[in-house]
Amino acid sequence: MGQLDGKIALVTGAASGIGKATAKRLTAEGARICCVDMDPRGKEVAEELGGVFVHADAGESSDVDRAFAACELELGGVDIAYLNAGIAIGVADLSELTDELYQRIMRVNVDGVVYGTRAAIRSMARGGGGAIVATSSLAGLIPFPPDPVYDLSKHAVVGFIRSVAPTLEPLAITANTVNPGMTDTNILTDDAKKFFAEANFPLMPAEQIADAVLTVVTTGRTGECWVCQPGRDPEPYRFHDVPGPRTAGAAGRRPPQVDDWTN
Ligand SMILES: NC(=O)c1ccc[n+]([C@@H]2O[C@H](COP(=O)([O-])OP(=O)(O)OC[C@H]3O[C@@H](n4cnc5c(N)ncnc54)[C@H](O)[C@@H]3O)[C@@H](O)[C@H]2O)c1
Repeated sequence: MGQLDGKIALVTGAASGIGKATAKRLTAEGARICCVDMDPRGKEVAEELGGVFVHADAGESSDVDRAFAACELELGGVDIAYLNAGIAIGVADLSELTDELYQRIMRVNVDGVVYGTRAAIRSMARGGGGAIVATSSLAGLIPFPPDPVYDLSKHAVVGFIRSVAPTLEPLAITANTVNPGMTDTNILTDDAKKFFAEANFPLMPAEQIADAVLTVVTTGRTGECWVCQPGRDPEPYRFHDVPGPRTAGAAGRRPPQVDDWTN
């Protein structure tokens, strides 16, 4: 008996690295898998896992909708959406940032998560619930001077998923992020890998993040950002509360809740 017997999972960025390892891990737990990637090698991954491949750009809304529709049509629904496709650009000197590079990274890292979440909600609302996980990064929680626009995009994912999660509770949909530290995949340049090796800094295997995704989708918790670090189990990041108002009459008042706006 697998933990995901009978479930259907869609994984973006499944041709390589963390997405590929997660597609394998979820399949090993009994899920049927829909691999989505711009890289045609995602087809080999899907075939190896007995799943479906959709060649699609995660930053293009019509492609994302087409991928979810294909998953519903060919596998029967979407219970788990792992929105993982992402890139880095490695531009530390912002005076060197081109519009093209800025738009390229924001499309996949931010638009891809928004379009994927929207499509997942529509699909899961029809199916009676589900689990959304987006890949942020440690760079979504801390500064990352080697790539500030990457850091921006991953902070955006954290804020978005934490904000959307409470709105999905009535639909029985959970929404979380995984926030990996340095992981041994193709997103790291050879120079970066050499730097970490010389500094004796451990990189995680992609399989460790795949295990974290499995933990996240099976806990039932929502609105959390699961930090993944070498040698540690994944754990939800403990955000600090911001200071409340001190103006006369406001002290002790309950902070506004999501229902105050949405009802
Ligand atoms: N490796 C790390 O150290 C690390 C750390 C934190 C977060 N992450 C995040 O993990 C995620 C997966 O990256 P990875 O490390 O496995 O790298 P990777 O390069 O091995 O895999 C990324 C995958 O995303 C796909 N992809 C890129 N743009 C796409 C698009 N527009 N549409 C569809 N697919 C697209 C690529 O083809 C590739 O298969 C990314 O979001 C990345 O930012 C990685």
